[in-house]
Amino acid sequence: MAEMSKDIFLNELLGRMTAADKAGQLNLLAGTMDATGMKNTGDLEAKILSGQCGAVLNVYTPAATRALQELALASPLGIPLIFGYDVIHGHRTIFPIPLALACSWNLELIESCARAAAAEAAADGLHWVYSPMVDISLDPRWGRVAEGAGEDPWLGAKIAAAMVRGYQGADLADLTSVLACVKHFALYGAPMGGRDYNTVDMSRRAMEETYFPPYRAAIDAGAQTVMTSFNEIDGIPASGNRWLLTDLLRVEWGFQGWIVTDYTSISEMINHGTAATDTEAAQQALEAGVDMDMMSEAFLTSLPELLENQQVTMEQVDAAVLRVLATKWDLGLFRDAFARCDDARAAAIFQHPATRQLACEAAREAMVLLKNEGQLLPLDKQGSIAVIGTLADSGRDMLGCWIAAGDEAVAVSGLAGIREIAGAMATVVFATGDDLTEAGRLASEADHVILVLGETWEMYGEAASRTTIRLSSHQRKLAKRVLKSGKPCVLVTLSGRPLELTWEDSKFPAILHAWALGSEGGRALAEIIFGEAAPIGKLTMGFPRSVGQVPMTYREKPTGRPFDAAAKYSSKYLDAGNEALYPFGHGLTYGNCDYGPVTVSSAAMLPGGSVTVSAGITNPNPHPVTETLQLYLRDLVASVSRPVKELRAYQRVTLAAGETRIVSFEITDADLTFPGRDFKPVVEPGDFEAMIGPSSADLRAVRFTRLGDAE
Ligand code: GLC
Repeated sequence: MAEMSKDIFLNELLGRMTAADKAGQLNLLAGTMDATGMKNTGDLEAKILSGQCGAVLNVYTPAATRALQELALASPLGIPLIFGYDVIHGHRTIFPIPLALACSWNLELIESCARAAAAEAAADGLHWVYSPMVDISLDPRWGRVAEGAGEDPWLGAKIAAAMVRGYQGADLADLTSVLACVKHFALYGAPMGGRDYNTVDMSRRAMEETYFPPYRAAIDAGAQTVMTSFNEIDGIPASGNRWLLTDLLRVEWGFQGWIVTDYTSISEMINHGTAATDTEAAQQALEAGVDMDMMSEAFLTSLPELLENQQVTMEQVDAAVLRVLATKWDLGLFRDAFARCDDARAAAIFQHPATRQLACEAAREAMVLLKNEGQLLPLDKQGSIAVIGTLADSGRDMLGCWIAAGDEAVAVSGLAGIREIAGAMATVVFATGDDLTEAGRLASEADHVILVLGETWEMYGEAASRTTIRLSSHQRKLAKRVLKSGKPCVLVTLSGRPLELTWEDSKFPAILHAWALGSEGGRALAEIIFGEAAPIGKLTMGFPRSVGQVPMTYREKPTGRPFDAAAKYSSKYLDAGNEALYPFGHGLTYGNCDYGPVTVSSAAMLPGGSVTVSAGITNPNPHPVTETLQLYLRDLVASVSRPVKELRAYQRVTLAAGETRIVSFEITDADLTFPGRDFKPVVEPGDFEAMIGPSSADLRAVRFTRLGDAE
């Protein structure tokens, strides 16, 4: 009945729309509460009032969205607006940047953070978030790695689905749900040289094996919208690429929602050199399968004329308009366009203590202990502690790159957290480190030093690519000066990307990577430093030894000349090893576990059957330890070359003091499936290696054979 009335309502409405009205519904314009692209909308209010705008980005708060919604309802057809915004890692309460949160490997936690972000966003007048960003990237020079889940497609797919579930909830009409937008479709994380917006040139195999899985998982999880990417694919910009948006996304993957472009990316087809005018670009975009135009206004200005000249069909335009209108119906906008404009609700939800607590938990799990020689960490809350580095005292840098409506005034900096947790028992002194002599003196006078270095929030994110990923030369000087004091010194690093820490690794006994941890970051950081909680994060993107190694991945293919330090003509560098300094999956905790041999339940696996691979793990410490065991697989001989290892499962276990446990993973055909020569999923009989361990570079292996049908 409800579906019936929805169809009748929408078709009746569509029947009353002129070509211009239809173009208006497909036009997404930006307000001025944030600037996220090169172009501004001059006359937003006038366009809304005349029905030339179907959705708005960069406007939030109950009052501001209400004011614009009133204009929309006063327009000739009175169709309500959808409000969208870049809620990337929280809205009012800020969670760790996505790359950091991914390091928790905690899908439930990630889903809860998305759910909480959705509730705050929805209470702030929003219906739509431009998240999750699921672009796989193997290149830390690209600043937007901060917004994604890292280098691994399998884990990236799980995280993408969890975020979609969190944002959209069970029902879009629920006042705590928002539409998710999977971005950037597709391959945006692989620009040449790591330079943002640069050309992508990729094999179909790399697309299928490495880059597509997270987009697809997000769509299978029900994501309602997809955002195109800025780059070209095989010479055709994504926003005008029919193979990508229609043949693949809609037909092959069965995507039912609607496609929005990225900011001005229809017009940018002119710069790409594949369209001469906005009109040509608009035609290509609509033909390709784009439904909504973000900020080019090319649909608005060109669709009526393109229809008139029969260069696009009314069916194409109607299909796009109906998709957008159907979503407005599903959001409940035709019933009550102001349901999300309630100040009292907003005040009750924003920065709710439960959300702040969730942010603290997320921050705790996002940190990765890279090194801890001599168990320097955790520190005791006693004596005198010198905290050094401007980043330690910055709430803004703790929040990270996209902060939506986050407020640095209520963000806990590292220094504030350290003072709160240890200040009553230890003497905490601070220096920015701008003055090297002062920093050196403070370090000499202290019992312990916590040196906080890394990237400020502007050094990563969009349009923030770098050719060097080391600490700045001043930070290096500061590090040397502090180390000269001879005092035990913990290095805490903040950043939005993997850094090159080879020098630091050779000098500092302990390195704790803290990324940008969000509103509660400093508190969580101090809890880890002083042992109130143990670090459990595992890297989801390797830290290279040298930027010259990137792009790089632990999932590399075997070459014809595998690494051999002694053989000149083997695949290697003259001046660095092949592996990451800190590989994918790496992350220490307080007190490590011992691994026993890995065993398999049967040397042969039947078609459609399974084998169980197990590892014994012992906690030799006098306290409980939590460890994330990772299972990797390798297909030893196949019809196409397969990676030397690929993550296929993991389990987080907590072992009591002295406990030994057998941890088991069941492997089925689904884990052995890969895109065959024709890119269709296939399982091939033959030998496989299963590997278990605490990181991708610390594994114990066992073999089994997947039998063929006749065997
Ligand atoms: C940007 C980004 C995209 C974002 C959009 C809207 O340029 O590439 O991620 O969602 O504009 O702000």
